[in-house]
Amino acid sequence: MPETLLEIADLHVHYDTVRGKSRAVDGVNLTVYRGEILGISGESGCGKSTLAAAVLRLVKPPGYIGGGVVRLHPRDGTSIDLLSAEESDVRRVRWRRLSYVPQGSMNSLNPVMRIEDQFTDAITAHSNFSKRDARRMVPELLRQVGLGAHVARMYPHELSGGMKQRVCIAIAIALKPDLVIADEPTTALDVNVQRLIIQTLADLRDQMGMTLIIVTHDMAVHAELCDRVAVMYAGDIVEVGDVRQIFKEPRHPYTRALIHSIPKVGGVRTRLGGIGGNAPSPLAWPQGCRFHPRCSQVMARCFADTPRLLPLDTTANGSGPSPIVACHLYPEQDGSRVTTALTPVPQ
Ligand SMILES: Nc1ncnc2c1ncn2[C@@H]1O[C@H](COP(=O)(O)OP(=O)(O)OP(=O)(O)O)[C@@H](O)[C@H]1O
Ligand SMILES: [Mg+2]
Repeated sequence: MPETLLEIADLHVHYDTVRGKSRAVDGVNLTVYRGEILGISGESGCGKSTLAAAVLRLVKPPGYIGGGVVRLHPRDGTSIDLLSAEESDVRRVRWRRLSYVPQGSMNSLNPVMRIEDQFTDAITAHSNFSKRDARRMVPELLRQVGLGAHVARMYPHELSGGMKQRVCIAIAIALKPDLVIADEPTTALDVNVQRLIIQTLADLRDQMGMTLIIVTHDMAVHAELCDRVAVMYAGDIVEVGDVRQIFKEPRHPYTRALIHSIPKVGGVRTRLGGIGGNAPSPLAWPQGCRFHPRCSQVMARCFADTPRLLPLDTTANGSGPSPIVACHLYPEQDGSRVTTALTPVPQ
């Protein structure tokens, strides 16, 4: 079995709003394996960015963690529950073991600071490196993301969107973390630049051995970059599987609808399926299966009974992780179906 790097168990993140409690992330279970590129997909507002921020305990008010476990098993053999640990311990892990490229980060580079200084600030804030040592690291970090050393002396406004995004990725990998979480790293970039960013991210895994979580609603990015894909709907994960299985044999009706809404080039022109109805509100998720009001295969059971995320057939694909799905179309098979999608979390 692949080695577990991160375990998320029953994670809840809420936002207190004037209209009530918004349950943006509501009971997520997910395991990330060392060396993989895991994609998190799902339509806008389903909770992807909230989930990514919660893993690093970086949810900002009015958001807060409502409960759960996020356990990281770094290379050094230690293990830490990022949600219950002291803030000082989490700070020691953040950026060194686990780093983050937030959604829209390329637009939040400091406009009046040279790129080099943005690197040295980030490196010295999260490590014991001196400013001088940090500065020496910059040319190599820029090279690792395909940028020339001259970029160090430039200001953000002198860089294209793709270059800025690569700078953000280079800052995130400065301390060689085990895991990098990139939130919408290719959104708002043209397709050629998207391609360069995808190549940069793939190189982080292939050449530097990092593990990546790529958060994006763009299924084409998942298809090209990811080994496994977790599909999120209404604050929870509804399906996790090998990227080929997700695209060729999606199990959950929501995943199927998502795949069928991607246009195909060539062949007979057909009208795209799309997904009927509106995305539900995190202020009041639908009872039972949250997808049931929009599901074309809805059954009586789906109205009241919330399906759990369970491995489908553990013997189906040898030693790799099993496809996992939360849907009543896949009834418990023979009693051997395990009751949790996670390996037990050590206490
Ligand atoms: N600061 C906030 N206050 C209140 N509600 C919020 C806040 N931030 C996010 N939410 C709500 O939490 C839910 C999930 O938001 P989130 O940004 O995590 O979604 P997302 O899947 O990343 O969407 P997108 O694809 O548009 O980036 C949404 O319903 C959103 O309205
Ligand atoms: Mg987002």
